[in-house]
Amino acid sequence: MKLYRLYENASIKMVHDQNLHSALNSLKNEVDFDYILETGTYRGDGSTELLAQIFHDTPSLKKLYSCEVDKYSWEIAQKYLIKYPKVVCLHGLSVSKQDAIEFVNTDLAISQHEDYPNIYIDDVTDPKAFYLNELSGQLSQSSQQNEILQEGLISSTLKEVEGNILICLDSAGGIGYLEFLTTLQCLDSKNNYWFLLDDIHHLKHFRSRLYMQNDSRFDIYAESSENGWLLAKFSM
Ligand SMILES: C[S@@+](CC[C@H](N)C(=O)[O-])C[C@H]1O[C@@H](n2cnc3c(N)ncnc32)[C@H](O)[C@@H]1O
Repeated sequence: MKLYRLYENASIKMVHDQNLHSALNSLKNEVDFDYILETGTYRGDGSTELLAQIFHDTPSLKKLYSCEVDKYSWEIAQKYLIKYPKVVCLHGLSVSKQDAIEFVNTDLAISQHEDYPNIYIDDVTDPKAFYLNELSGQLSQSSQQNEILQEGLISSTLKEVEGNILICLDSAGGIGYLEFLTTLQCLDSKNNYWFLLDDIHHLKHFRSRLYMQNDSRFDIYAESSENGWLLAKFSM
C-alpha cells in the first residue's frame, strides 16, 4: 500500500467538497432522519460539524451520536460541539476492544499490505503497531491517561435508535472494515439505513466499498475517488 500522508489530498478530517455537500443536502430533502451515528469524532470540526450543520434543522432528528476513543480529542470535540444541542459525544471504542485487537493482528491486508499497491495506509513500516496504538486512544499522543470506559458503541447505540438512520464510519484505518461488518450485523429490518464512508481509497474502507458494489442491498448514491467518500442506501 501507499503511504496516505504523501497523498496530495490527504487529510485526517473528512474532506468537505462541494459534491459531498450537494449529496448530503439532496439526501436531507429526501429523507427525514431520526438519528445519525458516527465513528471517529476526532476534534469535532470535520465530519461531525458538517453533519451537524447540514441536519441541525431537520425537525425529525433527535440525536447525532459520535464516538471517539482518544480522550484528549474527545474533550476538545465535546467543547467545540456544544453549540449543536443534538450532538452527543461518546468517549469509547466503536467496536469491542478484543475484536479490534484480533482484527488488526490477523488482517492479511495489514500484514501483507504490499499486495495492494493502489490503496493507501497510514504507516508502511509497522502498520500493526500504528493501528494498535490508535485503538488504545493514543492518536493525539497526549500525555493524558486514556481510560477507555466504553466499547462496542456501534452495537449499543444502534440497539437504542429507530427510524431513518445515517451511519458515518470514519475511525481507525486498521478497523474500518471491521466497523462496517459489525454495523451490518446490527441492522434491523424495521429501520432504514444510509451509509457515509470516508477513505474508500484507503485500507479503512476499500473493502467496504467492494462489499457494497457486490451486494444488491446497497445502492450507491454518490462517491468521490479523489476525496475518498461514499454515500449509499441500504435496503433489507
Ligand atoms: C480519521 S480521524 C476522524 C476524523 C473525523 N471524522 C473528521 O472528519 O474530522 C479518526 C479518529 O477516530 C478515532 N478512533 C480510532 N479508532 C476508533 C474506534 N475504534 N472508536 C472510536 N474512535 C476511534 C481516532 O482517535 C481519531 O480521532
